[in-house]
Amino acid sequence: MRIIQDDGEALGRFATDLIAERIADRPDAVIGLATGSSPIPIYVEMARRVAAGTLDLSSVRFFALDEYVGLAADHPMSYRAFLDDHVVGPCNLDPAQLTVLNGKAADPVAECADYEQAISAAGGIDLQLLGIGHNGHIGFNEPTSSFASRTRVVALTHQTVDANARFFDDDAEDVPLLALSQGIGTILEAGRLVLIATGAGKAPAIRSAIEGELTSSVPASALQLHPKVTFLVDEFAGSMLARVDFYRRERQIIPGYGH
Ligand code: GLP
Repeated sequence: MRIIQDDGEALGRFATDLIAERIADRPDAVIGLATGSSPIPIYVEMARRVAAGTLDLSSVRFFALDEYVGLAADHPMSYRAFLDDHVVGPCNLDPAQLTVLNGKAADPVAECADYEQAISAAGGIDLQLLGIGHNGHIGFNEPTSSFASRTRVVALTHQTVDANARFFDDDAEDVPLLALSQGIGTILEAGRLVLIATGAGKAPAIRSAIEGELTSSVPASALQLHPKVTFLVDEFAGSMLARVDFYRRERQIIPGYGH
């Protein structure tokens, strides 16, 4: 586990460097995308490099982590729409390069099985971006999700519904109660995991995920089981970490730390 503490823009550059390294190894790399406000600095930096001609995403395949049940792809609050607005458009991608779970699938269980199949057929995810919920969720894997869970239909906690109401004109009634989400077991199969968290509100979740016990009550603690995880945290999200001096020293003395 590697911990990088920096400001939001620098974190966006760090994550984009990691993505660029994967693409240098494999031009048709498979990148997992996350939604929410936290990864936006990464998407801004990706788009900047594409426009500058220093990042070539033309052969890259992308998969989303999750999607709300009941929202069509063209619903403005769907995660497909979010990723179209923040990644596909700004990075000049062909929409077919991005696969998102279909929240309107007639058979959600089959949709989830097909999604797992599509990820496998693409050769697995090389690098998965993640945010973190205030309760430690990753994707939409709420507390007590099994560490072995696969892509499936999940229910959202009240805390998550309330937190995400800000994207629905602050009306929690409009937030779907169900979602489709890659499971924790699915996420742990990615070659590399990069979790980004900013702001003081995420500090308790970050502390629990990195320094707390391994427990399904904190889904992000499952990342402790993965050999290649980079946590990107700003000063505020990292403010409750007890061993922050050690992480800084590691970063100074270990060559290529976090890469
Ligand atoms: C949603 C998403 C998560 C995301 C979380 C935090 O619940 N399903 O993938 O990590 O929101 O979002 P934000 O970064 O906006 O705090």
